[in-house]
Amino acid sequence: MPETILRASHLGITFGGLKAVHNFEIDIKEGELVGLIGPNGAGKTTVFNLFTGVYKPTEGTFYLGKQLMNGKKTHEIVAAGIARTFQNIRLFKKMTVMENVLIAFTKDIRYGLPGSILRTAAFWKEEADIRDKAMDLLSVFNLQDKADWNAGNLPYGQQRKLEIARALATNAKMLLLDEPAAGMNPTETAELLACINTIRRKFNISILLIEHDMSLVMNICERIVVIDYGEIIAQGLPEEISHDPKVIAAYLGE
Ligand SMILES: Nc1ncnc2c1ncn2[C@@H]1O[C@H](COP(=O)(O)OP(=O)(O)O)[C@@H](O)[C@H]1O
Ligand SMILES: [Mg+2]
Repeated sequence: MPETILRASHLGITFGGLKAVHNFEIDIKEGELVGLIGPNGAGKTTVFNLFTGVYKPTEGTFYLGKQLMNGKKTHEIVAAGIARTFQNIRLFKKMTVMENVLIAFTKDIRYGLPGSILRTAAFWKEEADIRDKAMDLLSVFNLQDKADWNAGNLPYGQQRKLEIARALATNAKMLLLDEPAAGMNPTETAELLACINTIRRKFNISILLIEHDMSLVMNICERIVVIDYGEIIAQGLPEEISHDPKVIAAYLGE
């Protein structure tokens, strides 16, 4: 039985009077890829904001492995192993592709400030190791030849990939992808799909994917959870979800 990585029970948040997310339940196993779909405004991004400490839940709990995560700060959650990408790309556009990934590795750096001031041999060794690791990661996304480019000069599809690479550099166990295919052309979407399959194989990471591109969702998700007005209205295999009358009425029939 694979181990549970991310588990939420009765998770929710109220803004003013609005229950943006209510009674959200999920159990994601090691290496599993689960889709989270629903109409605009359904509460999908809010679920990610709860899982990353951007918002504190007003109801329920969530765990990463056996660790209760309620009330933890974003940096603590990242350190514990949850990483995300954003619906709107958030890269350091004036920094290089390599630097964008290096930043995410900083939590692994052991030699810290004294080492970096004294420039000990161990510091240089570690610096070189981290660059190698970053370059490995960039090559997974076929970005190795663009390591010195400014991130903002990459074509859109590659900026999206770089965001995923940066999220993976935190050594996450659980990756939350918020509409990674938004704005991509069919070629870029196909490349993204291949990329997601590669990182699953290579890192055995669990993924929760928000996406409107149904060909992508139905193709790669093992299970799908559907929310509408902040509540789960259906969950199951892609095949079941695509034929579910409730899901068609709320979302797929749009
Ligand atoms: N900080 C906030 N304050 C008030 N309302 C919010 C806040 N964040 C999200 N909401 C509301 O929660 C609902 C869900 O939004 P969101 O999670 O962004 O939807 P989705 O990602 O599914 O399109 C929307 O009605 C949105 O206006
Ligand atoms: Mg959203």
